[in-house]
Amino acid sequence: MSTPRPIAVLGGTGPEGFGLALRWAQAGETVIIGSRDAKRAQDAAEKIKQRVGTNAKISGNENIAACAAADFLVLTIPFEGHAALLKQLKPAIRPGSIVIDATVPLAASVGGRATRTLGVWQGSAAQETAELVPKGISVVAAFQNVGAELLNADGLVDCDVIVCSDDPNAIQVVCNLATKIPGVRALDGGKLENARILEQITALLIGLNIRHKGHSGIRITGLPDAAYELV
Ligand SMILES: NC(=O)c1ccc[n+]([C@@H]2O[C@H](COP(=O)([O-])OP(=O)(O)OC[C@H]3O[C@@H](n4cnc5c(N)ncnc54)[C@H](OP(=O)(O)O)[C@@H]3O)[C@@H](O)[C@H]2O)c1
Repeated sequence: MSTPRPIAVLGGTGPEGFGLALRWAQAGETVIIGSRDAKRAQDAAEKIKQRVGTNAKISGNENIAACAAADFLVLTIPFEGHAALLKQLKPAIRPGSIVIDATVPLAASVGGRATRTLGVWQGSAAQETAELVPKGISVVAAFQNVGAELLNADGLVDCDVIVCSDDPNAIQVVCNLATKIPGVRALDGGKLENARILEQITALLIGLNIRHKGHSGIRITGLPDAAYELV
């Protein structure tokens, strides 16, 4: 069943956000692509409609307008724009929204290597988000370890998504959203502070992709079936 709450994918014109928006549109979710430029967002939404079909519930808008119309806000922007975008979004975030952060603070953001991460004062990009959203808004870290190539291809996404937050209800909701992507298993990864580990793993995966010329992801093994939220 689709979630009746719209999902805004901010920075959804880039490969990661576009891939997530595509998968959720395919699952029947209502998705709004966000961009700094409304026309760019609408063009991306149109491309998704062409792939999914005219019944796809997908539209595009400027980031702040997209945020104001949604209940799930997915951040898929480079780290260099992270804090500035959150400050712009703050007044538009609706009470009860959940902010889902997939941002990785790669050193490439400041001209360094994509195989290294930057130190973030708060511990991780997602913890920075928690400092910048209005009081009472839940922040969830997820999707950092799912590569855009897999999301944008047609097949199953052979990855686990580890979901971290200080709000256990938000973890459940986002695990459910993650499993709408065929092939994905979702796992409750505990407190938001664990986001710093998820973000580091992405830098490792990028290095593996370069070394072995592939599109790596992660699978966690050895837990009881009940730990994995399945489609
Ligand atoms: N690519 C992957 O496989 C992957 C996997 C896991 C996690 N991630 C993380 O997900 C995020 C997005 O990745 P991506 O590869 O899609 O990135 P990207 O293509 O570099 O950026 C995504 C979008 O963000 C917007 N943007 C760029 N600079 C911005 C700024 N300074 N302020 C606000 N918006 C800005 C752009 O959209 P507009 O110009 O339309 O506004 C762009 O299309 C990154 O934090 C990345 O580390 C990526």
